[in-house]
Amino acid sequence: MFKYKNLLEERAKLVEENLIRELKLTPILDDKLAEAMEYSLMAGGKRLRPILFMAAADSINSHGIKGENFLPVASALEMIHTYSLIHDDLPAMDNDDYRRGKLTNHKVFGEAMAILAGDALLTLAFEVIARQKNVKYPVLLEVAMEIAKSAGASGMVGGQAIDLESEGKQIDLETLKKLQLGKTGALFRAAIRSGALLAGANSKQLNALTIYADNFGLAFQITDDILDVQGEQEVLGKPIGSDERNLKSTYVTLTSLDDAKKIAQTAIKNALNALNDFGDEADFLREIVKYLIERKK
Ligand code: IPE
Ligand code: IPE
Ligand code: MG
Ligand code: MG
Ligand code: MG
Repeated sequence: MFKYKNLLEERAKLVEENLIRELKLTPILDDKLAEAMEYSLMAGGKRLRPILFMAAADSINSHGIKGENFLPVASALEMIHTYSLIHDDLPAMDNDDYRRGKLTNHKVFGEAMAILAGDALLTLAFEVIARQKNVKYPVLLEVAMEIAKSAGASGMVGGQAIDLESEGKQIDLETLKKLQLGKTGALFRAAIRSGALLAGANSKQLNALTIYADNFGLAFQITDDILDVQGEQEVLGKPIGSDERNLKSTYVTLTSLDDAKKIAQTAIKNALNALNDFGDEADFLREIVKYLIERKK
């Protein structure tokens, strides 16, 4: 059982309400595009990146600043993540039919509209970051830079490219690490670092949270790879066996189920150790990393 289940649900709800608010503030020229964007954005999902972003802000706790003060940036992270999922599911990429318990975006709206919905969500994310109030501009600019780099060729998109290039090939563990750090790790890192930066973290705190984030991302992707083999589609909301069908290189295929679990456990230990100098303001971060390895969805 996760000790902070209530807080997790409350914050997911806050993010969802703000996502709707941001969409309403956006004049979208085409109704079908608006529908496609909202379809995936509001399809559920754990909202983990915004939640970790807010938890990182809480963990700094300087001047009583709390994660809830930064809902636009939190929402932007979820928009980027959702766009990455829409594109990840396309026939040219993983070719999956279900996501978040519903048909994938291209299955409902067609490939072209799904591509555009992804493009629009990615761009809207940066518009929404610029809508963030009550933050000093140099910090907001730093956050925008952090998020842009992590989403793009140096981060998520770069990792997805290695992922595609590695299909059907025997890659080494180093390449797999680079792939994972990019496709999944980068956005978690940006989420956590951005929350910390907005809350006024010093460089020591920022370094510690970066180590936490990288280990979180690793344990998270390993769990995702394991669930792709051992999960249940009804609970997970997306197909099982997608990686095998696409001849993906994952922690499970490159090591073994047992070794993958061990690597994830070590990552969790390292994530927890990184928080040693933090007080109980970081308890949420401590608990969620332990909870994630038990997750079924
Ligand atoms: C899935 O992310 C894609 C990966 C990066 C492994 P999540 O498991 O966070 O997906 P949602 O947002 O809950 O649907
Ligand atoms: C993709 O990893 C991560 C993204 C950048 C979307 P996966 O392809 O393993 O994600 P799932 O399993 O489809 O959610
Ligand atoms: Mg993929
Ligand atoms: Mg996929
Ligand atoms: Mg996967």
